[in-house]
Amino acid sequence: MSEKILGVPYKTKHFDLPNRFVMAPLTRQRAAAGHVPHSLNALYYAQRASAGLIITEASQISPRGLGYQNTPGIYSKEQIEGWKLVTEAVHDRKGKIFCQLWHVGRHSHPLLQEDGGLPFGPSEIVETVPITTPNGKMAPVVPHAMTINEINETIEDYVRAAQNAIEAGFDGVEIHGANGYLIDQFLNDTSNVRDDEYGGSIPNKCRFAIKVTSAVVEAIGSARVGIRLSPSGTNFGVLNNDPVGTFKFLIEKLDAFDLAYIHLIEPVLKSITDLPQYLRKVTPYFRPMIKTTLITSAGYDFNSAEQAIKTDEADLVAFGKMFISNPDLVERYLTDAELTPFDVETFYGGGASGYTDYPFLK
Ligand SMILES: Cc1cc2nc3c(=O)[nH]c(=O)nc-3n(C[C@H](O)[C@H](O)[C@H](O)COP(=O)(O)O)c2cc1C
Repeated sequence: MSEKILGVPYKTKHFDLPNRFVMAPLTRQRAAAGHVPHSLNALYYAQRASAGLIITEASQISPRGLGYQNTPGIYSKEQIEGWKLVTEAVHDRKGKIFCQLWHVGRHSHPLLQEDGGLPFGPSEIVETVPITTPNGKMAPVVPHAMTINEINETIEDYVRAAQNAIEAGFDGVEIHGANGYLIDQFLNDTSNVRDDEYGGSIPNKCRFAIKVTSAVVEAIGSARVGIRLSPSGTNFGVLNNDPVGTFKFLIEKLDAFDLAYIHLIEPVLKSITDLPQYLRKVTPYFRPMIKTTLITSAGYDFNSAEQAIKTDEADLVAFGKMFISNPDLVERYLTDAELTPFDVETFYGGGASGYTDYPFLK
């Protein structure tokens, strides 16, 4: 039993966690009207509170940041009150929980926008996949290229959202900088062709991510801020001519903030790794540049997660789909119990079914 390193507590100046399991952020589209979290969401997270750290599903920082139906927000009074149910339920069970701050950028549609306006993006370049709207799947639209004023206002939205998260009782926030959403759209060449200080060179493409992080750190303190990145990610058609150079520059800058953690996503889709400029494995490559806690994620099972920590590739491992169907994943791991398989049909939307009704060992 003692050789199971995932079950060993993790203590640093920023963290005191009972184990090295992180529940990865998982969009489940089960918020109530007004994008407000409610008691069912509180139950779901409380069931998973034995994870060393929970990162919530992505939560939009503003109505403009919305890209899916029924995802929770973190910008209104009602949403803050709703999230309090979640944080209190998790803390009652001695869990720790960070809120993932999200702006989808161009991955939206006028039918999802409160004012019926165009989604925002770094440049007027259309998305690559259809967008699911209240009227069904729709062809993506050319986004509105953000002005400098709108960029500054959006940074302010991140700051307010982070302050709201603290007011709601979260232990911290994770800035969602991954998976082809707004921050990642600034980082990549097929979504950002700006010719001002937010586009062109690597420092310019990284400027938005760094400014958001800096502003959020200033507002709530670096110990309560993490960031998630997908250095070899090409979700929704974001491609990079120099992903290694871009993310090396960015990660070195981000690490200088002494954040709570940097969270990396491994490229698990085959199509990504066929492109020659992308790293097949990102965590070991970036590890030497990261002095703070490094969370790795995507595609891990217990064996590969153990290996990643034992070889010091990462400090913590985030599990996604396994946490959906195994609320007591940590206990199952420690007792070598069988895992319940997940049902993809109930990942997004609906009620308790496939959400809070997965069985516990006891
Ligand atoms: C249903 C579902 C929802 C997801 N939602 C988010 C999200 O809100 N934010 C995010 O950063 N990643 C999201 N992801 C990606 C996961 O956090 C994770 O990286 C992915 O599932 C791979 O890890 P796994 O192999 O352990 O499942 C989602 C994945 C799934 C399956």
